[in-house]
Amino acid sequence: MGTQRITIFDTTLRDGEQSPGCSMNLEEKLQMALQLEALGVDVIEAGFPVASDDDFAAVQAIARECRRPIIAALCRTIPRDIDRAWEALREAARPRIHTFLATSDIHLAYKLQKSREEALQMVREGIARAKSHCPDVEFSAEDATRSDWDYLVQVFAVAIEAGATVLNVPDTVGYTVPDEYSKLITYLRERVPGIDGVTISVHCHNDLGLAVANSLAAVAAGARQVECTMNGIGERAGNAALEEVVMALSVRRDAMPYCTGVEQEAIYRTSQTLANITGIEVQPNKAIVGRNAFAHESGIHQHGMLSHRSTYEIMTPESVGVRQTHLVLGKHSGRHALAKRFEELGYPLERVELDKAYKLFTKLSDQKKEIFDEDLLAIVRDGLTHIPETYKLRALQATAGTSMWATALVTLASEEGEFTETAMGDGPVNAVFAAVDKLTGLKGRLLDFRIHAITGGADAVGEVFIQVEFDGVAHGGKGASTDIVEASVRAYLNAANKVLFSRRATAVPLAAEAR
Ligand code: KIV
Ligand code: ZN
Repeated sequence: MGTQRITIFDTTLRDGEQSPGCSMNLEEKLQMALQLEALGVDVIEAGFPVASDDDFAAVQAIARECRRPIIAALCRTIPRDIDRAWEALREAARPRIHTFLATSDIHLAYKLQKSREEALQMVREGIARAKSHCPDVEFSAEDATRSDWDYLVQVFAVAIEAGATVLNVPDTVGYTVPDEYSKLITYLRERVPGIDGVTISVHCHNDLGLAVANSLAAVAAGARQVECTMNGIGERAGNAALEEVVMALSVRRDAMPYCTGVEQEAIYRTSQTLANITGIEVQPNKAIVGRNAFAHESGIHQHGMLSHRSTYEIMTPESVGVRQTHLVLGKHSGRHALAKRFEELGYPLERVELDKAYKLFTKLSDQKKEIFDEDLLAIVRDGLTHIPETYKLRALQATAGTSMWATALVTLASEEGEFTETAMGDGPVNAVFAAVDKLTGLKGRLLDFRIHAITGGADAVGEVFIQVEFDGVAHGGKGASTDIVEASVRAYLNAANKVLFSRRATAVPLAAEAR
């Protein structure tokens, strides 16, 4: 038996986005979807269109822009959901309607208040309706692993009869274990009529830390699609991590004769793209993409590595796109060298983008002697985002001390000119945010604030990620600078500009007088 192809179904933008702090706006979802397309995933689940107008718009935009992968949209088995999913998907090159219904007795009784018979009817009608729109229909039996196995056989038989092309067996609450899950897949393969003509999919949550192990066990038992998310984000403890599934199949092909279409070298960049969009950093010891995944600390390990890398390394960092940090450019590097380095990092820049990047680069090299790859990536992420800057930071001064109020003076520019405000706060960051609020007329409530140094040394660039609530809606923002107060105000402004962009508002008049 040769190597068999496993379909990678990425649900970062749907299940992943449902996890706390991971919500993304339309621009960010599109950026992530394009990166997932470059990564080579087979299916991108772009959202749940009936859930909100924003979700609908994101699915529609992704369906228009990402032409190679299948674009899936989630819906319950009810007509309004299905029709809305199809409306969002209809311009996709390869659309898939993904409809689901819970099948466990617990969910039927307490969540849906439906009998097993009623649920069977909903599955039949829902899939038939989806099929009337789209030939590719996936059906998920939510909470499959806590459902009665014989009832699941009936549900899947009805789903196939109604036209489903993919049957998903989710471990919705992360409850199963590898041996049991593998037996369930085998049980279904032996009993569901027509199952050989459809794809069996698995979708595992990580409540017991078994999502990847369960997914691989199911693949060995005959599943041919794995649903997963980048960095393992998702409801509660998350979903099976895409990078772990893909690399386990790649590194241990001797034990598991399966392959995927994922471009391994793009894994790290995709992981970083997500972390930067959401502000949710990957834990340092996270397999494959964590900061320490390829670090060797103990003397014995380092000695072994110097003798031969294979002593302690089962895959190279380069194989997943992790480049060893090295000095790349300095103050006198030219535009050409910069363009070339961006290209090597996977970001071929258009002329206008390169002009902007070069400006940011020269500014940074005035503040910082050594420019590392990570600094350049921060320029792409933070400097070249496409959120229009309704307000731009022009100047900033903040003072703080142990026995005084912090004060800040901030100058912002908008189409209407430059304006300055002062404010006090119980710290310099708090004071500059207050000054920004006065200038923009928005009132933000800080929900989360995180900072990390992108590179080492006293002149390191600090990157700030924040979540701010404006009018009851949380928005993420990020900013980078060698000065952490400046990075903070840039992050805050980034969030404020997103609010204004999403409202499609013209600039709110600046509150202060021009100076
Ligand atoms: O976990 C789950 O059951 C799901 C389904 C909607 C596929 O996310
Ligand atoms: Zn899920």
